[in-house]
Amino acid sequence: MKKTLTVLIALILFSCLHAQDGKMNDYIRNLMSRMTTDEKIGQLNLLIPGGAVTGSVVSKGVDDKIRAGLVGGIFGITGPDKVRQAQEIAVKNSRLHIPLIFGLDVIHGHRTMFPIPFGLSCTWDTVLIEKTAHVAAREASADGLAWVFSPMVDIARDPRWGRVSEGSGEDPYLGSAIAAAMVRGYQGRDLKNPENVMACVKHFALYGGAEAGREYNTVDMSRIKMYQYYLPPYKAAVDAGVGSVMSSFNEIDGVPATGNRWLLTTLLRDQWKFNGMVVSDYTSLSEMTAHGVGDLATVSALALRAGLDMDMVAEGFLTQLKQCLKNGTVKQQDIDLACRRILEAKYKLGLFSDPYSRMNTERALKELLTPDNRRFAREVAARSFVLLKNNDQLLPLKKSGTIALVGPLADNHRNMLGTWSVSGDPTKSVTVMEGIKNVAGSAVNILYAKGANIADDSILVKRTNTLGIEIEPESRSAQEMLDEAVATAMKSDVIVAVLGEAADMSGESSSRGDITIPESQENLLKALVKTGKPVVLVLFNGRPLILNWENKNVNAILDVWFGGTEAGNAIADVLFGDYNPSGKLTMTFPAHAGQIPIYYNAKNTGRPYDEDGNTKFKSDYLDISNLPLYPFGFGLSYTRFNYSAIKMSAREIDPARQVRISVTVSNTGNFDGEETAQLYIRDMAATVTQPVKELKKFQKVYLKKGESREITFTLTTEDLKYVNSDLQWVYEPGAFKIFVGGNSRDVVEADLSGMQSAAPAGSGNLKKSKKN
Ligand code: NOJ
Repeated sequence: MKKTLTVLIALILFSCLHAQDGKMNDYIRNLMSRMTTDEKIGQLNLLIPGGAVTGSVVSKGVDDKIRAGLVGGIFGITGPDKVRQAQEIAVKNSRLHIPLIFGLDVIHGHRTMFPIPFGLSCTWDTVLIEKTAHVAAREASADGLAWVFSPMVDIARDPRWGRVSEGSGEDPYLGSAIAAAMVRGYQGRDLKNPENVMACVKHFALYGGAEAGREYNTVDMSRIKMYQYYLPPYKAAVDAGVGSVMSSFNEIDGVPATGNRWLLTTLLRDQWKFNGMVVSDYTSLSEMTAHGVGDLATVSALALRAGLDMDMVAEGFLTQLKQCLKNGTVKQQDIDLACRRILEAKYKLGLFSDPYSRMNTERALKELLTPDNRRFAREVAARSFVLLKNNDQLLPLKKSGTIALVGPLADNHRNMLGTWSVSGDPTKSVTVMEGIKNVAGSAVNILYAKGANIADDSILVKRTNTLGIEIEPESRSAQEMLDEAVATAMKSDVIVAVLGEAADMSGESSSRGDITIPESQENLLKALVKTGKPVVLVLFNGRPLILNWENKNVNAILDVWFGGTEAGNAIADVLFGDYNPSGKLTMTFPAHAGQIPIYYNAKNTGRPYDEDGNTKFKSDYLDISNLPLYPFGFGLSYTRFNYSAIKMSAREIDPARQVRISVTVSNTGNFDGEETAQLYIRDMAATVTQPVKELKKFQKVYLKKGESREITFTLTTEDLKYVNSDLQWVYEPGAFKIFVGGNSRDVVEADLSGMQSAAPAGSGNLKKSKKN
C-alpha cells in the first residue's frame, strides 16, 4: 500500500514537472521564433554599469544597449528602485520586452555579512551554512537580485593564493557537503519564489590549483587528481541542482576554461547532466587572447562552441558572433542553444511572469540587516573561530580587571567584514573594542592603543587599498606608536593583541609571497610579549599564515578570520567564555613557506618522511621538518575531549555489508562544549596509490562537562572508492585503516578488511562500480 502510494506521488510529481517543462519549452520556442539573431546574441551579454568592478573594463552605453535588446543581464547594481529602473527599460522599451536577470557577488551574506567562506567552513556545520545562504538569498532578493555568484568551491592547497578566503579549504568531502548546502540555501525548493535566488557555482574549474598560488596563474594537473580531489565540490553543486556555473580564468590541459569544450560540454553537460546556464568570469572570454588562443573573433566562436552561454563584460559575443555566423565559425544552432539556456533560467526564476517580483521596496525596508539576521550572524561568527593555542587556560578571560586592547585591528570597522563584502556596510559592523564593551560592560577596564599600522610597506598598502582604504598609515612614527602600546600594556593584567591581515590582503588578486603577519605588527607583538604580561593574540586572516614565532611566544591564539557584521560581539563572546570555541581548520597551516603546497591528504611516497628527521634519502628537506604547524581539522576548545578506542560492528566490509564504527567521546574538562569528530580512512594497497588519510565522515557532538557519548559512523564500500586510471570511482577489496579523532593528526585507529562482494560470483558489482 505504502509502496503504491509512493509510486503514485512520484508519478504525479513527474508529470507535473513534465507539464511545467512543456509549458516552459512552448513559451521559449514561441519567444525565440520572434527574436532576431541580434536579439538572441544580446541575451548572451552580461554587463556591469559600475559597482563591483574586478577588472580593467567597465561596460559603456548600458541603457541604450538594453533598449536595443542587446543585454541579457546586469550585475553590480542593488536596491529595488535602482534595479527596477533598469528592468523597466528592458521590459517597457525593448522590442520583445524580455526581462533582464540581475546578479551580484553575494559571497558571505548580502547586507548582513557572515564570516568569510573560509571561516564559515571552519564551523563544519552544513545546516548552519545552508541557513546563512538562505538568509543571504532573502536579503539579496529583497534588494532586487535574482542571481548570486556563489558558492565558490575551488579546492586549494596553497595558502599564498588569496582566494582561499572565498572557499572551503583543501578537502573534497567537506567541500562537497558545503557546496551542496549553499546551493540548497540560495535556491530553496522553488526558484520562482521571490525569496530565492539562482546560485552560480564557481570557478569551473580547478582555479584553486594555480601554480605557486599566484592569482590567475596556469593550472596543470592529472585527470586522476582532478577527478578525485578538485572536481567533487563542483559536481556536488550540480547534483544539488545549481542553476548556473561560472567558468574560471585558468587553463586546463592548455585550453582556457572559458573555451574548453571538454570541460563545459563533455564533463559538465554530457557526464554530469548539468542543464542550466554557463557564464564566463569577468572578461575571461577576451582574456583568451592574452592566453595566446587567438583574436576576439576566434575566442568568441571557440567559447560559444565549447558551451559558454553568457559572456561577462567582455562583449566578445555581442560584437563578434554575427560575423562568426557569416563566416561559418559558429552555427545558428550554437547561438540558439545558448540563448535558450539563458531564457530558461529567466523563466525558472519567474521573471517572465513577474519581472519585478524581487524589486519590492517594502521588503527591502523590512528584511535587510534585521536584528534577527544580526543575532544569527553573531552566532555563526562565534562558531567559525578556531582556538589555536591556549596555554594555562588563559582563555576565557574573566569579566574583571584591566585589559590592554592593542593593535590596528582592535577598533577598526573597515576590516571586520572581510573580502568580497560588496553590499556590506562597514560602518554597521561591530569592532572588537565595541564587542568587549558590550559583553563585559563596565566590569572590565579597557585601555586601548593602536600600536602599529597594519602594514608599513608602501606597495603592500597601496595594493591592499585598491578597492577602498583598509590600511590607514598614521602620521606618528612606528616607535611612538609602539612606545604608547607598551606603556598601555604595562598597566594591564592581560594584553589582547588584535593583529593580522587587512580584509583585502586576501581575496581576488591578493596572493602573497610572504604569508606572515606584516612586519610592523610583528614588531609590536614582540614588544608586547617582552613586557612579560600574558598575551592573547586575536588573529584576523583570510588564509593560513605562518605563525611559528607566535605559537612559541604568545599564551593564547584565537583565529577569527573576518567575522562579518557581528565580528566584534562574537569575538567578545568567545574571549569571555559565553561561547566555547568549536571551529576546526579546513586547511593545513604550514610551519614554513618552503613546505607549500602542504595538505593532509598527501601520498606516502616510496621513501616516506621519517619524523626523527635524521636519516638521509627520505622524502623531506635538509633544513625544515615536513610537519605542519597546525594540521587539517585542528581546533582547541576551553574543555578537553577524549576519544575511546574504536568499536566496529564487523572487521570486514563488502559491497552488500556496511560497517558501523563507534567511539565514545568524553568531555573531560571544565566547560560544556562542542566537538567535531572526524573519520578518516587509508587504503593500504591500491592499484592507484592513495593518500595517507582521507576524510570520509564527520559528526558534531555537544557534550556537557563530564558527559560522554558514543557516536557512530556508518561506512559502506561507497566510502572506500577512489578514481582509477579509467577515471571511474572504484572499490578495490583489501586492507584499510580507519582513524577517528578531533583532527587529522591526533586519532585512534583500527583495521578494516575490504572483502569481495558477498553476492554470487558473476553478479559484477565488485571491482568496478561507478560513482559518477
Ligand atoms: C571576478 C571573480 O573572479 C568572480 O568570482 C566574480 O564573481 C566576478 N569577478 C564578478 O564580480
